Amino acid sequence: MLLLPTTSLKVGMTLAQPILHPLCESCVLLTDGVTLEPSYIQRLNELGVSHVWIDFPGLDEVDAALNKEISQDHLRLYQAINDSIERLERRVAVKLNLHQYRKAVRCMLTNIVEEPNHDVITHQLASCGSVLTGHLANCSYLSLLVGAHMTGYLRRQRSSLPADIAENTSELGVGALLHDVGKLLMPDELQNKSILDEQADWPEYRCHVHAGFDHAHENVSVVAANIILNHHQRYDGSGFPPREGRESRPAAPLSGRQIHIFSRIVAVVDAFDHLLCPGGRVVPTIVAIAGLRSAKFAGWFDPVVVETLLRLVPAFQVGSVVTLSNGLEAVVIGNHPEAPCRPTVRLLKGKVGEDGSRTTPRELDLRMCRNITIAAVSGIDVRKYVSAGELEPV
Ligand SMILES: [Fe+2]
Ligand SMILES: [Fe+2]
Repeated sequence: MLLLPTTSLKVGMTLAQPILHPLCESCVLLTDGVTLEPSYIQRLNELGVSHVWIDFPGLDEVDAALNKEISQDHLRLYQAINDSIERLERRVAVKLNLHQYRKAVRCMLTNIVEEPNHDVITHQLASCGSVLTGHLANCSYLSLLVGAHMTGYLRRQRSSLPADIAENTSELGVGALLHDVGKLLMPDELQNKSILDEQADWPEYRCHVHAGFDHAHENVSVVAANIILNHHQRYDGSGFPPREGRESRPAAPLSGRQIHIFSRIVAVVDAFDHLLCPGGRVVPTIVAIAGLRSAKFAGWFDPVVVETLLRLVPAFQVGSVVTLSNGLEAVVIGNHPEAPCRPTVRLLKGKVGEDGSRTTPRELDLRMCRNITIAAVSGIDVRKYVSAGELEPV
């Protein structure tokens, strides 16, 4: 199958994956197997659905990489949090349904640990769900994904705990799921702002960490409450909120290892999720990765967490259509961690959607073709990110 931007869909294409309604995560808008008609394509564009999977024979590698079970778990997580947010938004005192959250987190964690192929769904995360619900569920998924792949680091960072407790990340999943719950108490115009926006420096924005902590701490563990309070702390000590001041120690934000490792993980995935979908527009993963490594964020994040995330989220998603620097179109069928900008691709014959378009048997491992690079993803020019060389492993 192929992952196509909705603007590139053509009548007659067949959906390979169901499409969820972007404003109602529990509603399936179109089921897999549906053949696209003009009215369907128009409606998908009107609703702001950014990408869809379509059937395209000859791409077994892509089909094998798509983990439908994790996608289903992610959907259940959306539903769990959406139910809570609906109740919270009525501004009534509700008890958080921790049992429901824990169950959803545990299901996802089990699948993440058992299944190594996650890269294909990260793009889907960015493109479904209402803004805050989607962000919270995505951060929970990404936090669990990162946590599951850095157990040695977790043990060292939580060395006062027995190893099995130090490695247990279910409270990380719950804390990430609730980290911005304080935003529900903010003015509407600030709710969808993030650390990418200039309003992030405003006291009215920054207070969401205290508001969320005050709202939730009686219903969640100390560890999860700590994530809600400290997910905007920065590794270099330039974050917020300042801890309580005392005579011997004036008020100042936390820094380095003073910040709980779970809060350090959520700080990174929070930024990454916003970078994947700035202003509601989904961008190629390579753009978000370059953003995470840009000067704006220098010193903000634990470098071990950043490297773990970037190992797990390839710059070019399997299944996406890319344009090579020689003008040919191809599908990404495999990634190589040591050369993130040089995936293996399979060439396409003709433009996708045109009569006679299909894959060719010709594969290119771009590690072996130093004179060919990727110029565009889904029609978006990415040459400046590829050529910068800043995405190579450090
Ligand atoms: Fe936040
Ligand atoms: Fe956030």
